[in-house]
Amino acid sequence: MEKMNINKLPIAVIDSGVGGISVLRELIKIMPRENYIYFGDSKNAPYGSKEKAEVLEITRNNLKMLQERGIKALVVACNTATSAAVRILREENPDLVIVGIEPAIKPPAVTLDNPRVLVMATPLTLKEEKFKRLVAQYSDRADIIPLPCHRLAELIESGNIDTPELDEYVSSLLEPYRSKGIDALVLGCTHYPHVRETIERHISPSVKIFDGGEGTARETRRRLEASNNLCPADQVGVIEIYNSTNDEKMIELSKKLLYK
Ligand code: DGL
Repeated sequence: MEKMNINKLPIAVIDSGVGGISVLRELIKIMPRENYIYFGDSKNAPYGSKEKAEVLEITRNNLKMLQERGIKALVVACNTATSAAVRILREENPDLVIVGIEPAIKPPAVTLDNPRVLVMATPLTLKEEKFKRLVAQYSDRADIIPLPCHRLAELIESGNIDTPELDEYVSSLLEPYRSKGIDALVLGCTHYPHVRETIERHISPSVKIFDGGEGTARETRRRLEASNNLCPADQVGVIEIYNSTNDEKMIELSKKLLYK
């Protein structure tokens, strides 16, 4: 394929559902002229309580389907699928730009003085080797406390954004840390930025909140620049949103979260 045509192809952004929309938002902010194809796999959500092999297989199939449509890069906008699949997908697709996301432990570890960092994420993300390596990398600069949030992505996925049920669940998750001198909180699942205000209400205002969406967007731009695959400067970006359920409600929820 001629170079220019490749560069006009969309960047695919995938997640187990509406979570990756929080990353898509950051991508659009810094690369508004790119074409995007967002694929939320709500039919298979949640990924976070599945086995690694299953999440790898699902992600591999979703990539294959997107490659058949034609994409120039894949952003795995899901911490869980990144831990389970990105290393292997890169080995299997050496010519494709593949960017993943990981819990943003580095920013608090390097900018704060010996912080206590609470990491909210799915059980699978926290169980994975990738997370253990990340903790080992920063354990001399930060006290890192993992907090598996079993139902949080699911509640968000079902559209329970401003409900008392979500509020109570978040309150019960954060209650043990309210008086424990936490300095930073990492949103280690792409669904969680959608309920950031609720999370903020249940922790001390002095706690700094970090999420990996912006860093992932910057990394995507860096990688596309490096491979000479940014879109033409006069392109008008088109955003397509799909969901594996084919349920119009999920598309509406995705759009609501994208443009809120
Ligand atoms: N949004 C995903 C993440 O960043 C996971 C949600 C799920 O469990 O499916 O980890």
